[in-house]
Amino acid sequence: MTATDPVSRRRTFAIISHPDAGKTTLTEKLLLFGGAIQLAGEVRAKANRRQTRSDWMGIERERGISVVTSVMTFEYGDCVFNLLDTPGHEDFSEDTYRTLTAVDSAVMVIDAAKGIEDRTRKLFEVCRLRDIPIVTFINKLDRETRDPFDLLDEIEKTLALDVAPMTWPIGRGRSFAGTYDIRASAVRPVEGEQVLRPVNGPDDPSIAELLPEHERAAFSEELALAVDGLKPFDKSSFLEGHLTPVYFGSALRTFGVKDLIDALAEFAPPPRGQESATRLVEAREPKMTGFVFKIQANMDPNHRDRIAFMRVCSGRLVRGMKAKIVRTGKPMALNAPQFFFAQERAIADEAYAGDVVGIPNHGTLRIGDTLTEGEDIVFRGVPSFAPEIMRRVKIGDAMKARKLLDALQQMAEEGVVQTFVPNDGSGAMVGVVGALQLDVLKERLQAEYGLPVSFEPSRFELCRWVSATDRQEMDKFIRAFPSSMATDLDGAPVFMAASAWALNYEQEKWPQITFSDIKDYQ
Ligand code: G4P
Repeated sequence: MTATDPVSRRRTFAIISHPDAGKTTLTEKLLLFGGAIQLAGEVRAKANRRQTRSDWMGIERERGISVVTSVMTFEYGDCVFNLLDTPGHEDFSEDTYRTLTAVDSAVMVIDAAKGIEDRTRKLFEVCRLRDIPIVTFINKLDRETRDPFDLLDEIEKTLALDVAPMTWPIGRGRSFAGTYDIRASAVRPVEGEQVLRPVNGPDDPSIAELLPEHERAAFSEELALAVDGLKPFDKSSFLEGHLTPVYFGSALRTFGVKDLIDALAEFAPPPRGQESATRLVEAREPKMTGFVFKIQANMDPNHRDRIAFMRVCSGRLVRGMKAKIVRTGKPMALNAPQFFFAQERAIADEAYAGDVVGIPNHGTLRIGDTLTEGEDIVFRGVPSFAPEIMRRVKIGDAMKARKLLDALQQMAEEGVVQTFVPNDGSGAMVGVVGALQLDVLKERLQAEYGLPVSFEPSRFELCRWVSATDRQEMDKFIRAFPSSMATDLDGAPVFMAASAWALNYEQEKWPQITFSDIKDYQ
């Protein structure tokens, strides 16, 4: 393994945060460091509503939210970074969860005035399920903030995660003057070129001199306490997901961003082995494998082509190679795999483990698909979550019922919504985690399929995938609920319940049936 070994160079990560903590700003600044964009502000669709690549959907433009997950590749130093963007709005959390199955590490951005917020915590829990190492960036130090000890304490307590500050803020808000780099024993001032200036340990008087006189004594004490009293960084604990290194900065002022990107290069893990149903696939295995974690319908609604985002898990993907789609057993020529940059895409001639390539297709690929050079393995971990909102889809023209079912199947394959076809022949149901997904579905059915639909509440509120080891017991269960059973996209049986109470009741009555609210894609 050398420094130029393509796998060792890869860093595939996502940013997790609560809306407004500064994810977009930080993304811009990271891309700026990577030379992927010329001017900060180019990824920002939100502020000026300019048309950007991820801003193709009318609904997204109207509401100024980022609906679509995308990937941005850039190089910095010796590393190739793949930054997987996740939708900020919680209604698209399924998309985010799936994306987090494709990363090896994550950056957690915290607003220094607010600390851990709701969505940060949820996303963190998803990362924890896979022990994804997390680097923390405490942002907006140029504003009034909470006490840094307080913030660290909150991370430690609410997330049950050890913290190791790597830098320490020198002043905050108006008097924010820079950071002290604990490991390097150096100061990075906010002003000027922001270069690291070595100092003689935390007691060096030149550090406090960056602050107004009345703040100096208290700061020196604080710094001594931080350096001596807090946990030192331990790389193996970080890689196991037990400890997070913490950096302080201001994305808006491009401060601390270099620390962060250097940290990712230095500590964040290169592509990890990926669990398949049958074995662990190591990133350095010679044969290409990968899985699809995201499908994005094309920017041009008239051509129904789709981009499947595949994370390469092992081997080398070469343009033009034939891959096998394990679900169908069919071969697929990878003639035009693509890389995505901040604003453009380019044909990928080759890609390695950790890379994310876009594969254009007309519906051949769906979320959860594994592609290999022939081996029948299926990667685990791109899950489906039981919907929290269920609706019956209505279409005025009965002649279009068939077309509607096909369209719904497509949407389900893309992960826009889940579809359930009731066993009793009544109209198709859709299930979503967040209400905005329904708006997206409605808009896309109209724009791409010419199908004007409306949604009606049904008597069902929730559903669970059901299974049993005893086939007869399963059949008995299905027969007992002729009008509450449905099948999902893959034909898997689903039990629909009118309320949590009703679900609970049946669960107790049928102990041999397993009711599950998560389903791995096949
Ligand atoms: P998000 O993607 O996590 O939702 O956050 P985003 O980057 O859009 O940032 C949210 C707001 O916080 C923006 O201001 C942004 O300029 C500001 N911000 C981000 N980082 C910093 C920072 O380090 N310091 C300060 N002071 N502000 C920061 P906005 O006015 O809400 O949006 P906009 O109109 O500027 O887009």
